[in-house]
Amino acid sequence: MLFPSQLLSGRWTAVLGLLTAFSALIAPAVSVKEHDFKKCHQSGFCKRNRAFADQALATSSWQTPYHILPESRSFQDGQFQAVILKTINDQGETVRLPITVSFLKSGTARVTVDEEKRQKGEIELRHDSKARKERYNEAEQWVVVGGLDLDKEAKLAFEDKTQATVKYGPSSNFEAIIKFAPFGIEFKRDGATQIKLNDRGLLNMEHWRPKIDKPEPEKKEAEETTTEEKKEEEQPKGEDESTWWDESFGGNTDSKPRGPESVALDISFVDYEHIFGIPSHAGPLALKETRGGEGKYEEPYRLYNADVFEYILDSPMTLYGAIPFMQAHRKGSSVGVFWLNAAETWVDITKAKDSKNPLALGIGAKTSTHTHWVSESGLLDVFVFLGPTPQDLAKTYGELTGTTAMPQEFALGYHQCRWNYVSDEDVKDVDRKMDKHHIPYDVIWLDLEYTDEKKYFTWDSHTFPDPIGMGKQLDGHGRKLVTIVDPHIKNVDGYSVSTELKSKELATKNKEGNIFEGWCWPGSSHWIDAFNPAARAWWASLFQYSHYKGSMENTWIWNDMNEPSVFNGPETTMPKDNIHHGGWEHRDVHNLNGMTFHNATHHALISRKQGESRRPFVLTRSFFAGSQRIGPMWTGDNQAAWDHLQASIPMVLSQGISGMPFSGADVGGFFGNPEKDLQTRWYQAGIFYPFFRAHAHIDTRRREPYLAGEPYTSIITAAIRLRYSLLPSWYTLFRKAHLEGTPITRPMFYTHPTEEAGFDLDDQFFVGNTGLLAKPVTEQGKESVDIWIPDDEVYYDYFTYNTVPTSKGKKVTVDAPLDKIPLLMQGGHIFVRRDIPRRSSALMKWDDYTLVVTLPKDGKSAEGELYVDDGESFDYEKGQYIHRRFVLDSTAKTITSVDAEGRDEKDIKPGDWMKKMQECEVGVDKIIVVGAPASWNKKEVTVESDGKTWTAEVEYTPAEKGGRAAFAVIKKVGARIGADWKISFA
Ligand code: NOJ
Repeated sequence: MLFPSQLLSGRWTAVLGLLTAFSALIAPAVSVKEHDFKKCHQSGFCKRNRAFADQALATSSWQTPYHILPESRSFQDGQFQAVILKTINDQGETVRLPITVSFLKSGTARVTVDEEKRQKGEIELRHDSKARKERYNEAEQWVVVGGLDLDKEAKLAFEDKTQATVKYGPSSNFEAIIKFAPFGIEFKRDGATQIKLNDRGLLNMEHWRPKIDKPEPEKKEAEETTTEEKKEEEQPKGEDESTWWDESFGGNTDSKPRGPESVALDISFVDYEHIFGIPSHAGPLALKETRGGEGKYEEPYRLYNADVFEYILDSPMTLYGAIPFMQAHRKGSSVGVFWLNAAETWVDITKAKDSKNPLALGIGAKTSTHTHWVSESGLLDVFVFLGPTPQDLAKTYGELTGTTAMPQEFALGYHQCRWNYVSDEDVKDVDRKMDKHHIPYDVIWLDLEYTDEKKYFTWDSHTFPDPIGMGKQLDGHGRKLVTIVDPHIKNVDGYSVSTELKSKELATKNKEGNIFEGWCWPGSSHWIDAFNPAARAWWASLFQYSHYKGSMENTWIWNDMNEPSVFNGPETTMPKDNIHHGGWEHRDVHNLNGMTFHNATHHALISRKQGESRRPFVLTRSFFAGSQRIGPMWTGDNQAAWDHLQASIPMVLSQGISGMPFSGADVGGFFGNPEKDLQTRWYQAGIFYPFFRAHAHIDTRRREPYLAGEPYTSIITAAIRLRYSLLPSWYTLFRKAHLEGTPITRPMFYTHPTEEAGFDLDDQFFVGNTGLLAKPVTEQGKESVDIWIPDDEVYYDYFTYNTVPTSKGKKVTVDAPLDKIPLLMQGGHIFVRRDIPRRSSALMKWDDYTLVVTLPKDGKSAEGELYVDDGESFDYEKGQYIHRRFVLDSTAKTITSVDAEGRDEKDIKPGDWMKKMQECEVGVDKIIVVGAPASWNKKEVTVESDGKTWTAEVEYTPAEKGGRAAFAVIKKVGARIGADWKISFA
């Protein structure tokens, strides 16, 4: 996988010019490298488990070979423990699998199954392997940060020799019926079955067994073997052992020292037809069936973090990151499961009408969804969430895996990136040109080529002779620089990072226990093993300003290629039999790998300099459940094509409902050169990605927004400015995500969980709870969009204040010529903006606010929030923030601002930032009331705050019949943002 540009030497700028000009003429051919990645039948354990499922489901008398030994059971302090026996042959031999079912205070249940022999280390490894013998049991240490307190109130409501029933959860309305033989667990809420484990008998824990060397079958002369015979040979009767002991793909052989060890389970969502989650995949938000048929996938969804390079759309193929959290949704009810396993995982999904379901209401049969989870190794560890709302799922999953880190405010601004800005002068030039064209931006990014021959922590001294000078120019307008630092370390003499990595033994090892060597951007490389605490401490030392010369306080980091990408490795990643710290095989921890590296960089930035305490910014490509606590992700190498723009929206929505909302796609598309209309529409959509960054491949033409020319540059600028004006609202939403685990851009099923017609929609979304409803244009030449209206509320056009003629459950057509972003305001909200355009978010820090109030249909109350802090330090953890709640009362005669948490400003000892907010009297400048009733046709209103009363001028514009709603603008309000205030209409 060599990019043409990889072949270029460090002095490549001149060549690059030519190359870019050339590639501009010939659009790079983007071919899908699907065959570089396994399909289920090429992954031994996936194939075996699918075959097992086929056999089970085709056999009417099928019984799972697993049962709980009744006398082994116990129940204490919210935990049920027992031993499952797996019958492994006709002689009735069994293996012991300890099971624990934990009932947690949050109402979540956790089912963990281990294998006794491996647990006790009573197995033999082959090939003198240095690997650990146990099933991997440390995923929890990386992923789970809370919510594990046991619910000691959970009660064993019933038990006999065949089953145990436990009542648990809020008001004890949850129930787990643990059936002993055949083994299975049924989860109920308010008496109705929601989720069933092993109901279809697909539980499969491949137990340890010694390899029995069988005599090689006699080989016929090659020419005598027909294709049919070959197939016959490949498919021996009985269990398929062909990949138990080693497995090859694409020229690489996995030595599998522990033999077969997969874990699999079927999980049924009873009466649930809609299933979401398990990102990242480039497909619709609502997951599809995977066992073939029209419009369905043939392959299971795969979770095996990989550098897929040129990914295809509408596919269950794996991408760069994995979150094995799945939610099922039906009218008024949401439930979910979290499969805590970091090994390669596949998930099959089928749906079936279940007319026999005695719980189905009415006569019609209901559709249930059946899922089949298969991981290559590790424990069976599954968390069950019984909802009942999408918000409950977000909260309980957030309690377990953590919530979005509170970002610095600049991180929500616009990021200008490309592979590559070719010199420090180039960066400074872009910086100047953005200013010249009045385009706000916060961050400019440096891809690989800033380094001295791909040696991270160094600079190419010819092209970047003065990084500090560059950094200072950016700092002049409060801007930042992000440099790329990847996990592969160039294997070359005289590079201290490489020498230390080797001498300190901090790199990932190969199966022989020697330092692993592979290929990535720098050529021959080694990989830091961020599972190792000593490696993380060393990594942190590399980011000290004294070591990473040329970096400064406004330098932040981009972690790419951390799946990890290994160009000459199996499926472009590390061999599974590589060994990490603690003796764990790479196989066990693969999907965690990216997160551990991201985490190491995050901690390195926190400790760059003593006394410096700012929230780190580190973008990652690879991620796992829990990565949200560290920093944002992006969706990797997309293409400058309309269908990729379309696909980015469900991808970002899926991240949001899966606990990792800080996400975005490369605006403009990574590969290829977008037509100007596509580029423009992409910006109009990109302003709604929580992480908003334009990026482009090295072989593409330059495309900074000011190069687009008119009218495109102005339209793009307007879009970016819209993002900036709404930054206070975005920041408030990040605070909410940080506290409650909530998504930032929200799909219809999440905001309107009872409106079935919205469950499949993934091309429109609400921006948090602001009431802003967006539907970006993602089709070429489209000049209008049809927005589905989820409720009876009134909707106004964001730009014209026109009342949109809506009706619940119907689509309304909204005009969207190229210069118009389809954006509606739902009545009943108050959201906050900062309306003075500036060069960067830092320069807006002391600006006054504008409040937009949208009157609801009944003309009564509206509500909203603002959260603001210093935008960079951790002082918010000590109460240094302003959190206001704004309310338009039910008679629509007053608007008030109170502390959203009931705090008294006087009780907060102000730190530097709060003092400055007070001194500068940062306040509310303007309030726009859209849909203002005729009674607002006044000249002035009274403002009360800080013990004073004054008047503010009002300008009222009456409604236009059949068009624009009436609106009132209260000017120069003058109330401090941190103070309580009240505006009244006499
Ligand atoms: C792959 C990343 O996905 C892409 O964004 C980046 O530009 C290249 N690596 C080069 O670093």
